[in-house]
Amino acid sequence: MTRGPAAGKTVVLGVTGGIAAYKAVEVCRRLVDAGVHVVPVLTEDATRFVGEVTFSALASEPVQKSMWSEADPIPHTRLGQRADLVLVVPATARFLGCYANGISDGLLSATVLATRAPVMVCPAMHTEMWEHPAVQENLATLRRRQVLVVDPAQGRLAGGDVGAGRLADPDDIVAAALAVLGSVARGQDLAGRRVVVSAGGTREPIDPVRFISNRSSGKQGHAVAEAAATRGAEVVLVTTATRPAPAGIDVVKVETAAEMEAAMLEHSAAADIVVMAAAVADFRLKAPADTKLSKADGVPELVLEPTPDILAELGRRRRDGQVLVGFAAETHDMTSRAASKLRGKNLDFMVANDVSAQHVGFDHDTNAVTILGSDGTCREIPLTSKLEVAHAILDSVIVRLGGQRPGGGIRRAGASGGDDNSRRDS
Ligand code: PMT
Repeated sequence: MTRGPAAGKTVVLGVTGGIAAYKAVEVCRRLVDAGVHVVPVLTEDATRFVGEVTFSALASEPVQKSMWSEADPIPHTRLGQRADLVLVVPATARFLGCYANGISDGLLSATVLATRAPVMVCPAMHTEMWEHPAVQENLATLRRRQVLVVDPAQGRLAGGDVGAGRLADPDDIVAAALAVLGSVARGQDLAGRRVVVSAGGTREPIDPVRFISNRSSGKQGHAVAEAAATRGAEVVLVTTATRPAPAGIDVVKVETAAEMEAAMLEHSAAADIVVMAAAVADFRLKAPADTKLSKADGVPELVLEPTPDILAELGRRRRDGQVLVGFAAETHDMTSRAASKLRGKNLDFMVANDVSAQHVGFDHDTNAVTILGSDGTCREIPLTSKLEVAHAILDSVIVRLGGQRPGGGIRRAGASGGDDNSRRDS
């Protein structure tokens, strides 16, 4: 695994007593591979499912289990202070209940109460427990307090049952943890900035039940919104996708190019950064039918007209200091086609993805892009997660914003960027 901005950061990896505890071993190993310093903290119950020696061998330090240590009278505060992230895999209903209610009944629950670092919990339990209102209310409380939750998946559970409550895939847990650590390393460098992002493929109606659309899942646009929010920006996400957006993002749900255009023009007026990651349909029906077209009436003749070019309009309207980013989904002559769209639409950056390449573009969790700048810069981002692509784009935007303060002024030499107030006090 390549070392990213998370390398050198410290994760306190809490493991509680559920059958999924064995999967925390893989999470531990993958984090260590990424250069993260992993400190394992196991509950007594966790040791019934997985051996201490396993974690001690794979992690960066031996396992800690107890509040009562001769060497350190306050292990929970030390752990809490050292952590850049406390990650709990799996989080049982009991652990979530203690945490939501401020009950410290052991080293791990004391540590999550004693830290100012971000805390991420990965619940895993049987479906009946997962769906119990008490568990859901505890999770809602934790989410309200900015605790990050990696929701469980559907699948096989202990005892052969199948349903909701299975621990999220360790790959997804590691990716989520690395993203948080990456943003800890990047800090709140977008604090005070307003960011508007579009995502997903528009749907242009043919009749009340049929539409013209494309393969965009919204993953890349949602990742840009998430990355901007974790870096402190105020984010509006204009999206056609039904996928959940992280807390704190203002989501505007749209369907057609016309609806997306209205929302983008409205919200972009006051934005510092605008990113058009959506795949807008280029054509729509001139006159969609009001009632369902019937096979009995023969093959319909569909007359198309172009949709508005939202990005070109944003390029015409953009105000001084606003950074405008487009995406280009190409299958051939990627760089020259993207460069021509960059110029034609008056953009600062065009993010070109070769959607004919493996694991790139539509619907994949990964992407590989070339970020072309209007100043002639060209940055290759090899295949990585869409969240990392999002961060790379924002890194370029930050450079372009240069000395501008949020709101358009120029930062004085030596003055702080206004980010420090919003940084975590840890
Ligand atoms: O959503 P995912 O499944 O994660 O996939 C991500 C993605 C492949 C959709 C994304 O990375 C991407 O490439 N988005 C842009 C796709 C696209 O429409 O490319 P284009 O070359 O046709 O358009 C160029 C730019 O103009 C885009 O920023 C597009 O949003 C914008 N546009 C296009 C047509 C139109 N009528 N209005 C526009 O604003």
